[in-house]
Amino acid sequence: MQPRHVAAGVGAGLALWLLWRRLRRRQDAKAALHATVVLASAGGRAQPHAVLHTGRLMPLVGLGTWKAKPGDVERAVRAAIEAGYRHIDCAKCYDNEREVGAAIRGCLDAGVCAREDLFVTSKLWNTEKKYARDVRNALENTLRDLQLDYLDLYLIHWPVAFGRVVNCACHGNAGDGAICPFPKRADGGLKYDDARRRVLKMNSGDLDAIQVPHAETWRALEACVDGGLATHIGVSNFNEAQLQALLDACTVRPAVNQIELHPYNASPALCAYCAEQGILLTSYCVLGHGSGAGVPLLESPVVAAIAERRGMTPAQRLEPEDLDALLAMDVGWRFCAALRDKHLAQYPFKDELPVLMRHAKQAK
Ligand SMILES: NC(=O)c1ccc[n+]([C@@H]2O[C@H](COP(=O)([O-])OP(=O)(O)OC[C@H]3O[C@@H](n4cnc5c(N)ncnc54)[C@H](OP(=O)(O)O)[C@@H]3O)[C@@H](O)[C@H]2O)c1
Repeated sequence: MQPRHVAAGVGAGLALWLLWRRLRRRQDAKAALHATVVLASAGGRAQPHAVLHTGRLMPLVGLGTWKAKPGDVERAVRAAIEAGYRHIDCAKCYDNEREVGAAIRGCLDAGVCAREDLFVTSKLWNTEKKYARDVRNALENTLRDLQLDYLDLYLIHWPVAFGRVVNCACHGNAGDGAICPFPKRADGGLKYDDARRRVLKMNSGDLDAIQVPHAETWRALEACVDGGLATHIGVSNFNEAQLQALLDACTVRPAVNQIELHPYNASPALCAYCAEQGILLTSYCVLGHGSGAGVPLLESPVVAAIAERRGMTPAQRLEPEDLDALLAMDVGWRFCAALRDKHLAQYPFKDELPVLMRHAKQAK
């Protein structure tokens, strides 16, 4: 893969593109592309990389594992590593880390690549951030499932906290001590973290002002870096204010913010802020998750015209000169709007709510 083709589409439903810093500043797009992508040898192949604040290289194209079904994901991850992918994006709440781990272990044992050639990311789920020990336990469980000694990157998956329910029937895990990823209240609604709400209610009457403060979770993640369990830590779905609060309090800087980024949702202000702060952006749902604002992204006339001009499929590739046309498609549409959390103070897209609600209404 040539560096100028860094945004090449990747295959079958698991694609995760990594966008380069400052891409969204149109005038800087070309320069940023060349400034942040370097060639490095991985698995005998030249691969474009981004550079993290520690100097560690992160392969620019990664394989996502969300919604990958049991039975499929092990084969998919193994095939991807054999084909040259070196960046695998996992998460506890994808409920498939054991299979991903079996694929990684199989590749390492077969000598397909060395551990240090892989860049493995996972994410702390909303149910596991109330106490520092929860965070460490969660990371240790992920490492056990992935059969690894350390992660290259551990992210706070969402800036909200759910309650902790063990052995719930809805997740099919009754009896095995597993934590339910989407815990329900008796009335069927989602159970949010409420221990601190009670404290807040007594103290300030401000129910949703804070749930689990991000700075507390972050301190627990920093301890995991100190303990050698992760070489980098970061966040996902954080807005600018949430990032700034972390930066004000941290001793280990967030390396990455993983966010939804595609032509329908270009988030130029957040991209510029992250670039200024040296926080790398990883973009997810770059193909719009097969969906979109009215017209699915890959079927939009702009994308179709680019594909036709290049003689390629819509998911295959974009070049810096396509950016103006693609960025003009930004209508603030999100696939992962998480509207169920919109009443929470920590909901990251509060400023976008009128637009998100309008899109949600139109989609009905
Ligand atoms: N941090 C977070 O909160 C978060 C949230 C969402 C995702 N992620 C990460 O990002 C990864 C990618 O997200 P995603 O899978 O939702 O994004 P995506 O790549 O935008 O969407 C995948 C969709 O694109 C379609 N597709 C893939 N390749 C295609 C091609 N060559 N031609 C036509 N259609 C194609 C797939 O269709 P088929 O299903 O028909 O194959 C699937 O519906 C996830 O696996 C996960 O690792 C993170």
